[in-house]
Amino acid sequence: MKKPDNQIIVIFGGRGDLAIRKIIPSLHALYIQGIMPERFAILVTGRGKITDDTYRNEVKKAVAEAHTERMSHDDKGFVESFSYISMDPSVAADYNFLAERIGEARDKAGTGGNTLYYLSVPPELYKDIPRYLAHQGLNNEGDGWKRIIIEKPFGYDYASAVSLNAALLEYWNESQLYRIDHYLGKETVQNILVTRFSNGIFEPLWNRNYVNHVEITSSESLGVEKRGAYYEDTGALRDMIQNHLLHLVGFIAMEPPSSINSTSIRNELVKVFESFRPIKYEEVGSNSLRGQYSGAHVRGEWLEGYRNEANVDPASTTETFAALKVYIDNWRWGGVPFYIRTGKRLPTRVTEAVIHFKPTPHYLFSSKSRCEGCNQLIIRIQPDEGMLLRFGMKIPGAGFNVKNVNMDFHYADLASGRLPEAYERLIYDCMNGDSTLYTRSDAVLAAWRFLEPVINAWKNDPSIPLYGYPAGTWGPEKADDLIEEADLTWRYPCKNLADDGVYCEL
Ligand code: BG6
Repeated sequence: MKKPDNQIIVIFGGRGDLAIRKIIPSLHALYIQGIMPERFAILVTGRGKITDDTYRNEVKKAVAEAHTERMSHDDKGFVESFSYISMDPSVAADYNFLAERIGEARDKAGTGGNTLYYLSVPPELYKDIPRYLAHQGLNNEGDGWKRIIIEKPFGYDYASAVSLNAALLEYWNESQLYRIDHYLGKETVQNILVTRFSNGIFEPLWNRNYVNHVEITSSESLGVEKRGAYYEDTGALRDMIQNHLLHLVGFIAMEPPSSINSTSIRNELVKVFESFRPIKYEEVGSNSLRGQYSGAHVRGEWLEGYRNEANVDPASTTETFAALKVYIDNWRWGGVPFYIRTGKRLPTRVTEAVIHFKPTPHYLFSSKSRCEGCNQLIIRIQPDEGMLLRFGMKIPGAGFNVKNVNMDFHYADLASGRLPEAYERLIYDCMNGDSTLYTRSDAVLAAWRFLEPVINAWKNDPSIPLYGYPAGTWGPEKADDLIEEADLTWRYPCKNLADDGVYCEL
């Protein structure tokens, strides 16, 4: 893999949870693999007043705790590449100092002007930081490229996303903006494209003639942890569906791109988003479902309900579970429902997409339900990344009794060691100027536009219930009603609470 250009990396919010848990360990993993730039320096900003040495100790700790790659004595260069800048990113005057420090770092490390800015800060700062950088000329590409990575959420709804976009484009070009959705950095998400477009056998079946419905689940066993304040204003729809799950729908549903380059892939993705059948305000109740977890004992441990979590309103109506029925009105998918759901405090952590194929036109063998013998292709995004094809086989012995069996591929068998972290891949791509796995503004806006009626109806229509569900269950039972066909339910990859935290296949 090629080494990126020499560059300075500036991480705003360098002591925040994301920087410590994901960004720094990912940079370290790139360093270990020898694919950091030949010359680089990392400047991190924070409001606290600490020394470079104190921050470098935090870097060592972050790497040790991430358990990705071990820190060794040879990593001195990595640790010493960090410098800490105490500043308030919401104050314009502090950027004079930042500009000076960037200049010094460039001279010292001999990197030239290429600079990557990573906004790992609360969304309220997404307009200020790029604007103040531009006021200092720090967006000027005369002496080398300048790129900004912006974390999600990109906007709070359609109007705020449009406004954020416009504010950014006042000083920066679209080609300089890297909107991150870490799901696109997951190997298994990229593998959806490879599975579909490097195998001749799937494509002929990948359409309304053979696919009955598609189901996408992203469940987490954790609650909101320490993020109550963020989650209160966000909820499951904005936190997971607007970005991660709609992208999964996009990768599963898109047409073959003309080539594997950023523009072609992103063009196809946005076409899917623009083909979503708009959900009318009055249809929201029948096309979506929301829930919120309540307290429960799970294996002897009491788990608090959402309303009792720290920094959460005791009368909160924020959803921690969201499910949606989506149609894509185009030739390939006309009439095929895509069911998507996500939730916190469910029985296990699993993200998977299931392609449910239609039943045979005439079922010769005894079965309990119409779809007992239906084939399923299960794309396991995480954990135990892989792919599973379910099909019917004759049970040995008298008669013709059929049992569904699994052909199971584990992605780890392909990787010679660990699977790279999503952030590792995405940061590496940005350093190299490859935006394929980053979100373009038209896709972000199309996703918000599609969800707008749901957001509005959930906020304003009291007749749409917020169902409760006990922690450790698969969300409100009512969610099964979203699935149109009477004998179909969601797939429950793991029903047994004893398997919490571990992927289990029934
Ligand atoms: C983040 C959400 O984007 O994705 C979190 O803000 C969620 O609430 C996380 O927990 C899930 O990511 P992953 O990679 O663990 O599936």
